[in-house]
Amino acid sequence: MNPFSRVYLTDPASMWRRILDDPDGVHYAEDLGLWLISRHAHVRRALADAATFANALTLAPVYEVCPPALSVIMQIDAPPTTAAADPPTHPRTRRALRATFANTAERVEADYGAIVRRRVDQLVSRLVARQGDQVDLIPDFATELPLLVVLDILGVPDADIGQIRRWADGQIALIWGQPDPAEQVRLAKGLLEFWHYCEELVRQRMESGHQGDDFISRALTYRDDDDSVLTVPEVASLAFNLLVAGHETTAGLLAHALDQALSTPQRWSAIAADPGLVPAFVGETLRFAPAIDGWLRVTTREVTLGAVTIPAGARCLLLIGAANRDPEAFHDPDRFDPHRPDVGNHLSFGHGPHFCIGAGLARLEAGIALSRLAEAIPGLRLSPEQHRSYKPNVAFRAHHRLLAIVDIPASSEGPAARGGATAEVHAG
Ligand code: HEM
Repeated sequence: MNPFSRVYLTDPASMWRRILDDPDGVHYAEDLGLWLISRHAHVRRALADAATFANALTLAPVYEVCPPALSVIMQIDAPPTTAAADPPTHPRTRRALRATFANTAERVEADYGAIVRRRVDQLVSRLVARQGDQVDLIPDFATELPLLVVLDILGVPDADIGQIRRWADGQIALIWGQPDPAEQVRLAKGLLEFWHYCEELVRQRMESGHQGDDFISRALTYRDDDDSVLTVPEVASLAFNLLVAGHETTAGLLAHALDQALSTPQRWSAIAADPGLVPAFVGETLRFAPAIDGWLRVTTREVTLGAVTIPAGARCLLLIGAANRDPEAFHDPDRFDPHRPDVGNHLSFGHGPHFCIGAGLARLEAGIALSRLAEAIPGLRLSPEQHRSYKPNVAFRAHHRLLAIVDIPASSEGPAARGGATAEVHAG
C-alpha cells in the first residue's frame, strides 16, 4: 500500500479494505519504511500504549529530508509538548493544556460558543451574498472558519490569517507529504519563521502582563513564572501546535461532512429541515471519513500484534481510517449511517493519553457550521465540475476543492435574512 498512489488519493477506502482483508492486518511498506497497522483493536492498543508506541517521532517527516532542509529544521528549537511529547514531559504539558484550553462540552460552549457563532454567521452571510455563484467551500468556508476561531482563542490578529494558513499547510506537507528537495527547503524555512512568530506572540503577551483571556495569556498565568510547571518556550510550543492542530483537522471534518451531505442532496435537505440531525451526522462523518486517517508512532521495544512481530525502533502508521472500517468493530462498516449504534467506537480523535484536546471544540464548530449553513442555503449543491481528490499526505485527508453552487430558494428565510439563527439550540 502506497499512501501517495493515485488510488489512495481518490479512493482510500479500497486500500483500507485490502489491508483489512489481509490475514495479519499489519504490513511493512518497504518503500516508506513504515509499518502499516489497520485493525481496530491493534490501532486502539497502539494509541493507548504510550510506553510501547512512543510519540517522539510523530511530528518528524515520514521520508528522508534533504540535508539543506534538515539543517533549517534543526534550527526549530520548539520543545515537544503535545503530539510529539512522551513522559515525563507529556503528562505535565497535558495538565497545562487541560487547565488552559476548554475541552469538555460544557467548558467549550461557555468559553468558545460565542466566538464560533460569530465567525459562522460572518462566513455564512458572505456565502449568502454570493447567490447564484460557484464557490469553493474549502477556502471559503471549511478552512477559514476553524482558523478564524483558533486565532480568536489564541488572541492572534485576523490580519495574520493568510500567513498562518500558508505556514500550517506547509508544515503538513513537509511532515506527512512528499515534497521535492527544493520544496522541502522552502517549507522548512516557512516552518522556522512560523516558530519564531509563535515565540514573538508569547514575548508580546509577557511584555503586556498577560491579563487577557486568550489562550497564551492563560498559559502564562498558569505557569506563574515556574519553569517546573511550564517553561516559556513550552507556552510558545503549545501555541505553535494549536495553531495547526486546531484548524487543519476541523477544516477536514467540515469538508468531509459537507461532501457527504451535498453528494446525496436528500441528506442536505434533511439537515436543513431538522438541525437536530446534525450531531449524529457529524459523528458518522468522523468515523467514515476521518480528517486524520493515519497517525505515526515509533516502537520502543519489540511488539507482537496478531501473528506479526514489529521490531523496536520501528515507525508505525496507525491507519485510523482503516480501523474505522473494521468489520470486527462496526456493523456494515462501508455504509454511511448516522444512526448506527456503534459510531462512538471510532478512533478519529485518537485514544488514550494523547486523546485530542480539541474534540469538543471540533464538534461544536461542525455542529453550528452545518446547521446554520443548511438553514441559510438549503439549495446549496455540488457543482457538476466537482471531482473528489485529496492532497498527497499520509495523515491529513484534505480535499483539493469542493465546488458548489449557492442556490437560495426565493421562499427560504435563512439566518442571514432574519438577522439570527436558532439552529444551534437543537444542534448543540
Ligand atoms: C475534527 C477535528 C479534529 C481531529 C480529527 C483531530 C484528531 C486528532 C488526533 C488523531 C490526535 C492524536 C491523538 C492520539 O495520539 O491518541 C489529536 C491530538 C491533538 N489534537 Fe486534535 N483533532 C481535531 C481537532 C482539534 C482541535 C480543534 C484542536 C485544538 C484547537 C486539536 C488539538 C489537538 C492537540 C493539542 C492534540 C495533542 C494532544 C496530546 O498529545 O496530548 N485538535 N487530534
